[in-house]
Amino acid sequence: MIYPDPTSRSAELAKRAGRVYPGGTTRGQTYYTPYPIYVDHAEGCQVFDVDGTARTDFLNNYTVQFFGHSHPDIVAAVQHQAARGMCFTMPSELDIELAEMVLGRAASFEHLRFTNTGTEAVMHAIKGARAYTGKAKIAKCEGVYHGAYDYAEVSLDSNPQMWGQDRPQSVGHTHGVPEGVTSDVVVLPFNDVAASEKILEENAGDLAGVLFDVVPSRCGGIPASADYIKMLKAFTQAHDKVLILDEVVTWRLGYGGAQTLYGVEPDMTTLGKVIGGGMPIGAVAGREEVMRVFDSSAGKALCSHSGTFAGNPVTMAAGIAAMKLLTPEAIERLNGLGERARAGLREVFRRADVDGQVTGEGSLVLMHFSSEALGDYRSTWRAHTDRRAEMLEDLFRRLLNRGILFSTWGLGCLSTPMGEAEVDHLAEAVLASLNEMKEDNKKELAS
Ligand SMILES: Cc1ncc(COP(=O)(O)O)c(C=O)c1O
Repeated sequence: MIYPDPTSRSAELAKRAGRVYPGGTTRGQTYYTPYPIYVDHAEGCQVFDVDGTARTDFLNNYTVQFFGHSHPDIVAAVQHQAARGMCFTMPSELDIELAEMVLGRAASFEHLRFTNTGTEAVMHAIKGARAYTGKAKIAKCEGVYHGAYDYAEVSLDSNPQMWGQDRPQSVGHTHGVPEGVTSDVVVLPFNDVAASEKILEENAGDLAGVLFDVVPSRCGGIPASADYIKMLKAFTQAHDKVLILDEVVTWRLGYGGAQTLYGVEPDMTTLGKVIGGGMPIGAVAGREEVMRVFDSSAGKALCSHSGTFAGNPVTMAAGIAAMKLLTPEAIERLNGLGERARAGLREVFRRADVDGQVTGEGSLVLMHFSSEALGDYRSTWRAHTDRRAEMLEDLFRRLLNRGILFSTWGLGCLSTPMGEAEVDHLAEAVLASLNEMKEDNKKELAS
C-alpha cells in the first residue's frame, strides 16, 4: 500500500489515537505526519504494518533490536519466565546472572544496578555522581541526547538564537524547566579540547561529574577525538569527578561497548536498549568505589535507588538470552555490514550527484543532506535544519514506499537477520528516492 493513504487502516487508527492522546501518540518519536504507520507484527528484520505491507526495519526501535524481531531464543526465554511469574518483591537468580554477564565485558565495570530505561540509568548516574562528590553540577556536551531527565536534556535543541557565541549556553529543553536545572548544568562544545577544558576548570569547584557519549548521533555520529577523551579523563581524575559514559546506544558497537574501542575509562557507564533483548531496560555499571553510593545494606544509602520493576525477571530472562547472542563474532559481522551500508550509500549520493554525506560507526548509519564537515553539535544542527531537515523527512517517506523503515532524521541501524541483500536494497532504494526527489524538485522549480 502506498503511503499516505487516507483509506488505510493506519490512517483510521491514527484518527482513533487522536481522540485519546495529545498530539495523537503516546510516544513522540514514533509520530510523523500525516499519520504514523501502525505495526501489526514483525519477524527477523521485517516489520508488517496493519495494512499488510512488509518493510525492512533499519531503525530497530532506535537501535534496540540488534537481533531483529522475535529472535526465537529471546522469545523462548520471555515465554518461559512469564509463565513462571512476571514480577516479584523478591530478587531472583536471573538478575545476578545478567549482571555477571554484563560486568564481565568491560574493565571499568565492577558493580552494577538495573533500571527500566536508559533515561532512568542516566538519572541515577547523575544522582550517584552528586552523592559521591557532594557537588551539584554536571557537565555535558551541547546538543547531545541522553534521555528525558531534565538535567540530561539541557541544550538539547539549542539554536543560533540562544546558543551563545564564545561558549555554549545552558538552555532548558522543556518549557518552564526550573532555573536550578539550567544553572546546574555546564555545557561543553563536543570535541573542542581547549574550550571544554577551560569551562571544566572554571567550574571544577562545583562539578560532580561529566556526562559523555563518545559517538553522539547529534554530533554527526562521528567519534570524539582521542585528545578529547584523554582531556576528559585527565580532568575528572585530577579533580576526583565522576566520568559517566552513556553507552545506551554505543554498547552495540563492541563486545565491551564503545569504551573498549575508543579507550574511554569511565567511572560509571549507563546502559540500556540492547542489553534487554527488546524488553525495557537500563543499567548503571561502574567502579565499586563510586557505585557504593547505592549501597543501602547498612542503612540509608548516599543515593537511593530502587524501582518497582528494576531487575524484573522477564526483562532479565530476555537480557540473558540477548547477551548469549551478543558475541564478538555477531558484532563484528554486523559492523562489517555497516561498513558495506555506509560505502554503498556514499556511492549512491555520488551517483545521484546530491550534496550529502554518510557517517556512523559499526552498525550505525547516518545520512545528512550536507557536505559540510561534521563532528560537533553546531555543524550537525546546520546539516539538519530547514530545507535539509525537510529533505530527510521526504527521503524517509519515499523509503517507506520502497519497503524500508528508516528514521525521519537520517539515523538507521542494522540487525543480525540482515545480510548483504538487505543493505544493498537500502542503497538501491535511497538511489531511486534521491533521483525521484531531484526530478520532483526540477518540476517544482519549472512550475
Ligand atoms: C544516548 C542515549 N542515552 C539515553 C537514552 C534514553 O534511553 P531510553 O529511551 O531507554 O530512556 C537514549 C535513547 O535513545 C540514548 O540514545
